[in-house]
Amino acid sequence: MIGRLVVIGLGLIGGSFAKGLRESGLCREVVGVDLDPQSRQLAVELGVVDRCEEDLVLACQGADVIQLAVPILAMEKLLALLAGMDLGQAVLTDVGSAKGNVVRAAQEAFGGMPARFVPGHPIAGSEQSGVEASNAQLFRRHKVILTPLEQTDAAALDLVDRLWRELGADVEHMQVERHDEVLAATSHLPHLLAFGLVDSLAKRSENLDIFRYAAGGFRDFTRIAGSDPVMWHDIFLANREAVLRTLDTFRNDLDALRDAVDAGDGHQLLGVFTRARVAREHFGKILARRAYVDAMNSNDLIFLANPGGRLSGRIRVPGDKSISHRSIMLGSLAEGTTEVEGFLEGEDALATLQAFRDMGVVIEGPHHGRVTIHGVGLHGLKPAPGPIYLGNSGTSMRLLSGLLAAQSFDSTLTGDPSLSKRPMNRVANPLREMGAVIETAAEGRPPMVIRGGHRLKGLTYTLPMASAQVKSCLLLAGLYAEGKTTVTEPAPTRDHTERMLRGFGYSVSVDGATASVESGGKLKATHIEVPADISSAAFFLVAASIAEGSELVLEHVGINPTRTGVIDILRLMGADIRLENQREVGGEPVADLHVRAAKLKGIEIPEELVPLAIDEFPVLFVAAACAEGRTVLRGAEELRVKESDRIQVMADGLLTLGVKCEPTPDGIIIEGGQIGGGEVHGHGDHRIAMAFSVASLRANAPIRIHDCANVATSFPNFLALCAQVGIRVAQEAQS
Ligand code: S3P
Repeated sequence: MIGRLVVIGLGLIGGSFAKGLRESGLCREVVGVDLDPQSRQLAVELGVVDRCEEDLVLACQGADVIQLAVPILAMEKLLALLAGMDLGQAVLTDVGSAKGNVVRAAQEAFGGMPARFVPGHPIAGSEQSGVEASNAQLFRRHKVILTPLEQTDAAALDLVDRLWRELGADVEHMQVERHDEVLAATSHLPHLLAFGLVDSLAKRSENLDIFRYAAGGFRDFTRIAGSDPVMWHDIFLANREAVLRTLDTFRNDLDALRDAVDAGDGHQLLGVFTRARVAREHFGKILARRAYVDAMNSNDLIFLANPGGRLSGRIRVPGDKSISHRSIMLGSLAEGTTEVEGFLEGEDALATLQAFRDMGVVIEGPHHGRVTIHGVGLHGLKPAPGPIYLGNSGTSMRLLSGLLAAQSFDSTLTGDPSLSKRPMNRVANPLREMGAVIETAAEGRPPMVIRGGHRLKGLTYTLPMASAQVKSCLLLAGLYAEGKTTVTEPAPTRDHTERMLRGFGYSVSVDGATASVESGGKLKATHIEVPADISSAAFFLVAASIAEGSELVLEHVGINPTRTGVIDILRLMGADIRLENQREVGGEPVADLHVRAAKLKGIEIPEELVPLAIDEFPVLFVAAACAEGRTVLRGAEELRVKESDRIQVMADGLLTLGVKCEPTPDGIIIEGGQIGGGEVHGHGDHRIAMAFSVASLRANAPIRIHDCANVATSFPNFLALCAQVGIRVAQEAQS
């Protein structure tokens, strides 16, 4: 509870702040100050304030908080007046949309920044203005940025923070300079361009006529040129330096576009437009997610899986994740244009795609799984403009690290909280042996900073663990390393890199468990057809096996022998899976998988099958829970360092659902039995969320699965396909 709040300047922002806090009951008294008598009268009549004062000194006497909501260019004069008054212990704050100049004005007026002055900026507004437009809800779900300085009093900051939160705002703290740069780029520059474009066209009288034909593009781009000219004039004068910096950068980019048009350089134009389009889509998603997060007050996406069901039909699950990643990488490094079909439009593969766009590769699509990559050759990548964000995707980070270690420029690879916990020394250490210079966070975790300009030397390396990612990383580095790079694996792992390199005309020699490449070759663009992902098909193989009366066909699934462990394991358990229409497409074997429900029995899973089914264990554990008897898995410690600790996380969930199981350091023991309902957690791991969705087919009560958003990393249409074949899982409706 605070005593007296004084709001100086009763426009839209000041009025809304006053009204909202008055309605909250948090202040004993809200006093308004404004030079305009009509605004003062209206403010009282409309209940915006308790009373108004004409005289600043009288108003501020005994104030606890003083909000400065005058136009930004009036701030200097106001601060000078306030500096001459006795403000007692009052906390000062403001709403100016440029902070550097407010801070400077305060420093000048007070002879140093007062500790109890908390600069602020609500990012909210409306096309209406004046005290009559005051709206107590104006700041709800809007960002308010506070820019405290080192000397800012912690209690004052806390108080201002609390006042904005009381109004429903989402408060963030930022440095003054950062605030001004961010706003210059995201708000001030677009307004300058909109005002400038409309004026430039309108002032030539011959153009007035063409406005009659101005359609959506012009209207959308210039909407903000309808904003208050005086206010914007103030903002540009106040945020001069930061605006000039973004404007100069933009002018350079605009000149480059002009030159591209002049030179008829379609490649350059396509590069800019495709990059901009994804950036815009990404931005749209962030905004949508924010609205969603606001509604939920957390970013927990919940799947509700209802018990029972029987599967039927024919479906094609999305494209193979491993092959999709590699198609972008090798297509980018090839000479010529590579067409990809069946590309997985999931967040992981899109992260790889975006990384190469950031490194200057022009990539069209994806559109219905089609991607066109204008390869730049092995030496054509350019430095990304900033850190490369790879989301949840371990494959992107590990494979890219090999490629980037051999470039002439530095790169930084970052990821989401799950990826940021995963071990990267397994790639960084052998790459260092090849001469790479790589820094990581503690214990070899991301971010990875990869220094360019170091010549790599070929390496002969025996992998300490069966990992296709490590193998692929080193083979990719080997494309650039002096001499020969040879990798031997302790057990067979997926060989898509080897196959695809050959598909691009690059020679790879494979001798048993050893694969080698030599540098000096070239990749030649090719056509890639990505088969459906057996790892995604696995959920439906188990689902149709455990749900009585089911019969399902999964079309065009990749059955590369380094990936079919899940079929072998399920068959050992008694599953009825037939491979039909076997064929080879673009160097990878595919088939339609015909699966019928069957009585499963528990088994000891042969250890040699573990790397061949490495991603399928979460759903195989569900099969084991439905089987008769005990299933034992050993030699699978790698599962503990996947997108989550899959042994622990599955054990926790299964126990919650009443399934008897016991995790071991390198596996799990599961006793088949009845599955119950309950609340389980996906832990941000796509395959955990999908596995528990499948478990519902044999559950006797609903299963609620938390933290399912990452299903979109590998299987964006999972829920739709579930609905199509008869699994009763859906995103829980938000209240
Ligand atoms: C992958 C290899 C496997 C797998 C991952 C994809 C690949 O990882 O789990 O989902 O595309 O090379 P490891 O190589 O770490 O076992």
